Amino acid sequence: MSFLDLARKRQSDRGFLAQPVERLQIERCLEAARLAPSACNSQPWFFVVVDEPALRTAIAAELNHFAMNRFAPTAPVLVAVVAENPTLLPRLGGMIKDKPYYLLDIGMAVEHFCLQAADEGLGSCIIGWFNEAGVKRLLGIPKGKRVPLVIALGYPADPATRPKTRREPDATRSYNDYPGTR
Ligand SMILES: Cc1cc2nc3c(=O)[nH]c(=O)nc-3n(C[C@H](O)[C@H](O)[C@H](O)COP(=O)(O)O)c2cc1C
Repeated sequence: MSFLDLARKRQSDRGFLAQPVERLQIERCLEAARLAPSACNSQPWFFVVVDEPALRTAIAAELNHFAMNRFAPTAPVLVAVVAENPTLLPRLGGMIKDKPYYLLDIGMAVEHFCLQAADEGLGSCIIGWFNEAGVKRLLGIPKGKRVPLVIALGYPADPATRPKTRREPDATRSYNDYPGTR
């Protein structure tokens, strides 16, 4: 599969089969995430994989937040992404430049994870709307740390690739200057 085909195949799956996911497959997704780039190579991430059924059910309840993410209990694997303290240089740089580099880094690592999942024939959904305090309490994550995202992973209930809903190409790019300013 070409990289573009893989990018087309990756989609947010919001319903999963009960079929378990092999740890080896999870490991390959984690390896893809580990290889992601980050500001000053800070690698400010830690992945807590939850595949133990009772704990997973409890985490899923925290993801089903104000009627969002009702599908979460169907995912056989949930991965909480913990933001680790960035090293001094990107932290300072982020403050000076007013850019939360660590969130950009985590976004890239999470997308690497999800693309590897798609390559494995697995489905995933990046989840950013959830009860963070509840997830942290269940996983023993210290209060001072943040959990920006959770990834739902499993075999999709509907494996068909949907057409992507995206802005038109011309609305997303230009060459050599920004449109409409001169
Ligand atoms: C940072 C981030 C947070 C997201 N949070 C949620 C979420 O809480 N629940 C959900 O169902 N989808 C969530 N999504 C998935 C997006 O809705 C989805 O990527 C977008 O609609 C494009 O669809 P596609 O992933 O199928 O291509 C999130 C995606 C990102 C990148």
